[in-house]
Amino acid sequence: MIKNLLVTGGCGFIGSAFIRKILRDTDINIVNLDSLTYAGNPENLIEIEGNHRYHFVKGSIQNPELVENICDYYKIDGIINFAAESHVDRSILDARPFIDTNVGGTLILLQTAMKHKIRRYLQVSTDEVYGSLGESGLFTESSPIQPNSPYSASKAAADHLVSAFVHTYGLNAVITRCSNNYGPFQFPEKLIPLMVLNACEDKKLPIYGDGMNVRDWIYVDDHCSGIWATFLKGKSGEVYNLGGKSEKPNIEIVKTLLKILNKPESLITYVKDRPGHDRRYAIDCSKAESELAWKPAFNFDEGLVSTVNWYLNNPKWCGNVRSGEYMEYYEKQYKI
Ligand code: NAD
Ligand code: DAU
Repeated sequence: MIKNLLVTGGCGFIGSAFIRKILRDTDINIVNLDSLTYAGNPENLIEIEGNHRYHFVKGSIQNPELVENICDYYKIDGIINFAAESHVDRSILDARPFIDTNVGGTLILLQTAMKHKIRRYLQVSTDEVYGSLGESGLFTESSPIQPNSPYSASKAAADHLVSAFVHTYGLNAVITRCSNNYGPFQFPEKLIPLMVLNACEDKKLPIYGDGMNVRDWIYVDDHCSGIWATFLKGKSGEVYNLGGKSEKPNIEIVKTLLKILNKPESLITYVKDRPGHDRRYAIDCSKAESELAWKPAFNFDEGLVSTVNWYLNNPKWCGNVRSGEYMEYYEKQYKI
């Protein structure tokens, strides 16, 4: 059993949900290494402040001495890597930080894992490494790797490095590939929180292209339980797909959000499409269901309402993340 877990990127949306869960459900000690980029927010972990099983280190997974010192000092025996540049649109504006963190940072973690004889490593990856689907079909773990954006290319490269470390050096490692997450604390550059906050302020809701691109939505807590099940039970060297079985076109999501918020559809504005925009993602997660006894538990409609309510009930968090640097990005991205 793992005693001291290094979680990287734990101040982001999914990493923070994972840390809250593990501290609640287990007696494992957690060290969170996060460089606090624009997406890393210590406020996401306010609930666990003062927990003696939790330690925060501000720094980058690209710093080998720091990662080694953490592994030594805290006697780390497991690593889960959430740390990443995670937004496709930003990767189109500048791919460099995506390669540096997602590929370079993963390599540092893998090398340190070998050196320190880490007992288990999990790479949090994404369904985007499979590229885009047509009208039908689902991504399985053996679908070809065909990433289309600099973000997904960087995640695919990292996945290949993990597999190479398993095969070449015998590292005990697993990979999860999950679909689109939603839930509390998601940074409002991603579809759902962006639309909720814009609608609340009666701002335009920018829909890329024809709005008919399809994503498979999963509640963030279901993703976290899938990561934990994979960490505990997954077979080394294997990939496990995780998905919510809730395929929706973007326009349907946005119209549902407007209904929940009681705002008019006239706020919807069709804008220029994302370059290289993947048309459809859909996940076959039957391997995780049968081998890990995991399945998504949240109903999409209920999860969406509770997510909207979370944003409505947390105006301070929303105000803090929608200030300064965020607005510069927003203006650059959406000229509407
Ligand atoms: P996020 O952008 O909200 O958080 C990323 C976190 O990583 C931030 O706290 C940031 O400060 C930290 N970070 C970035 N660079 C770092 C570095 N060099 N060193 C240390 N920390 C660094 O991302 P998220 O949505 O929580 O995604 C977490 C992981 O899950 C990512 O690996 C992403 O690729 C993957 N994923 C996300 C989704 C999704 O829908 N959001 C779906 C599947 C997989
Ligand atoms: O599939 C998993 C991936 O999901 C993760 O690996 C990524 O980290 C995560 O960001 C997400 O990627 P997407 O590109 O699918 O998510 P995003 O929220 O950026 O966009 C969802 C869809 O909504 C996509 O088809 C683009 C569209 N969109 C997005 C924004 C921000 C719009 O139409 N308008 C927008 O303003």
